[in-house]
Amino acid sequence: MAADLTIPNKTLREFARLVEEEAVNPWEGELKVGVDLGTANILVSVTDSAGCPVAGVSTPSCVVRDGIVVDYVGAIRTVRSMKARLEEKLGVRLTKAACAIPPGISPGNTKAIGNVVEAADFELTAIIDEPTAAATVLGIKEGAVVDVGGGTTGISVIRNGEVVLTADEPTGGTHMTLVLAGFHRTTTEEAECLKRDPAQESSVFPVIRPVVEKMASIVAGAIRGHQVETIYVVGGACCFKEFEGIFEKRIGIPTVKPAAPLLVTPLGIAMNA
Ligand SMILES: Nc1ncnc2c1ncn2[C@@H]1O[C@H](COP(=O)(O)OP(=O)(O)OP(=O)(O)O)[C@@H](O)[C@H]1O
Ligand SMILES: [Mg+2]
Repeated sequence: MAADLTIPNKTLREFARLVEEEAVNPWEGELKVGVDLGTANILVSVTDSAGCPVAGVSTPSCVVRDGIVVDYVGAIRTVRSMKARLEEKLGVRLTKAACAIPPGISPGNTKAIGNVVEAADFELTAIIDEPTAAATVLGIKEGAVVDVGGGTTGISVIRNGEVVLTADEPTGGTHMTLVLAGFHRTTTEEAECLKRDPAQESSVFPVIRPVVEKMASIVAGAIRGHQVETIYVVGGACCFKEFEGIFEKRIGIPTVKPAAPLLVTPLGIAMNA
């Protein structure tokens, strides 16, 4: 049976509000910080010691690609300025942070991610794997977590709270944007804006539907042989209303999407920090 997401959804909505708005200032008490170096967005999340969201900032970025730091100096500069913004929001200094890695990246690339966090003047407390971060927020111990990001889709199966399978496939929101740009013979920048405009969803979705169907077949292939009762979709590229319905139909496994799917993994990094 699918986990009851009522409480995680409430937490995620609260975190979404905190990313947009101001935080309690000055904050008193212990804080946990998580840095998510994504392909499309960098997110720094802050929770209290119990894991309740306290503040967050998000910045579009292209300094990291699929877990690989491609612009080291730019990544440090971005994380530093996000740290400063958060310190201003909270009126306190942030000294420690955790970060996360997508499934299957090499030790060298893992080290580079940690180095960015340290070079941005954080003491690195932990390097968490992204599916574990997402599962913490969702409060699940069983099921598959599919993180549809910018460049890649991370697929993991969790059993008894342990990650028993991970795969990272080269498909994601960027792929949708490219298909949309090709269809309209326009630039990727324009296609990206069109894709994210909720008012255009009814005309955008039929164009990118084959990409979502292909993603579903990729996920079905990756989890084959594993007993999965529920698929949880997270990540920015699953924001479309019909997304989980297509997964459910194609894969034949109930598929649920939490509120603010873009924020699930980033929040989970802070919770595990
Ligand atoms: N409202 C939206 N509707 C559709 N797509 C969206 C929306 N918001 C973000 N996206 C897409 O989500 C993707 C980014 O998702 P996310 O932030 O989860 O990825 P990331 O963590 O930066 O990348 P990765 O996990 O691949 O390294 C981008 O392709 C972006 O276009
Ligand atoms: Mg991501």
